[in-house]
Amino acid sequence: MAASIELRLTLWICLVFILCFHSVSALIEGLYCGTQSCYDVLGVSRDVSKAELGRAYRQLARRYHPDRFQPGETDDTQESAQQKFLLVATAYETLKDEELRKDYDYMLDHPEEYYSHYYTYYRRRLAPKVDVRIVILVTICAISLFQYYSWWSSYTEAINYLMTVPKYRIQATELAKQQGLLNRTKEKGKNRRSKEEIREEEEQIIRDIIKNKIDIKGGYQKPNVSDILLCKIVLFPYHLCTYVAWNFSWFYRFTIRGEEYGEEERLYIIRKYMKMSQAQFDSLENSLIETFLKQQLWIKENYEAYKKEQEEEMKMKMATDSRWKRYRRWMKSEGPGRITFADD
Ligand SMILES: *[C@@H]1O[C@H](CO)[C@@H](O)[C@H](O)[C@H]1NC(C)=O
Ligand SMILES: *[C@@H]1O[C@H](CO)[C@@H](O)[C@H](O)[C@H]1NC(C)=O
Ligand SMILES: *[C@@H]1O[C@H](CO)[C@@H](O)[C@H](O)[C@H]1NC(C)=O
Repeated sequence: MAASIELRLTLWICLVFILCFHSVSALIEGLYCGTQSCYDVLGVSRDVSKAELGRAYRQLARRYHPDRFQPGETDDTQESAQQKFLLVATAYETLKDEELRKDYDYMLDHPEEYYSHYYTYYRRRLAPKVDVRIVILVTICAISLFQYYSWWSSYTEAINYLMTVPKYRIQATELAKQQGLLNRTKEKGKNRRSKEEIREEEEQIIRDIIKNKIDIKGGYQKPNVSDILLCKIVLFPYHLCTYVAWNFSWFYRFTIRGEEYGEEERLYIIRKYMKMSQAQFDSLENSLIETFLKQQLWIKENYEAYKKEQEEEMKMKMATDSRWKRYRRWMKSEGPGRITFADD
């Protein structure tokens, strides 16, 4: 479906171009045999059969073919003969194809519908040339642009939101002060800026600090070109190869040769057990990650024990936590008919 829309769009653009650059009187120039009738060019009548058409064409083509052209035989120069040859060829191409000939006859019978003639003509000429691969490529590019644009808007939105959250605003302001970014120098004379301008600059400083210092995770992080569809597709073979190579070397080193895991590998295994993404794992406290390593969680049995322990702990917490008690009591008495987000 997308393909036909692309095609139609292309055609309309062509049409607009043609209409802009052609004067009305020369409209038919450039279509089929130009201002001449293709039938006249071949010297045949409109009810000519296919066989007769071929005969007429071959005769004329022989006469005007650049390789056979003999100067002096006719009034033509080399150049005009060549043009005639092209015209004859075009006329033959137009009339020998049944569909094309139907279009052409229709045009002869309905000279007033010239817009539709242009459309029909270019649709036929372009249709086989508009490669499906190009249409797909154009579509992918459009999606990628859109993706990138919408990522930027989510990101900007997230930053705008964080600017209004006191916790982040205060942190960022503190940082800016520490770095001396908000120190005001006394400004005098013509260069003195208005209060508004100073305030604006300070906002910008705070915004930059929030952008650079506060790690935004999930769909709101800073857009990265390598994440857009086009780059992913282009880089896919590369990523696939690296993954296969990495996986293979892992297999060779640790399964076949029985090497000891390094820290990187240990963390990788732990992360996989915990089913976390790299970003999620990176956002954990360093001390927590160290306890994972200390407990040797990359060993399956240790991890299972750890998981069980965590679950037990969670249950205990729920049983003793006053908030949970309150929650359960509330569930019993009122049920979840109403939801509040009390921040206690
Ligand atoms: C900005 O002011 C702070 C404290 O008032 C000071 O420590 C710092 O050196 C100043 N920085 C600059 C660049 O003036
Ligand atoms: C974009 O992502 C790639 C791989 O995911 C990473 O190597 C690169 O540092 C990122 N670039 C930026 C500007 O964050
Ligand atoms: C390597 O690939 C195999 C097959 O897909 C997979 O089972 C294995 O977990 C991969 N190895 C690593 C280290 O991810």
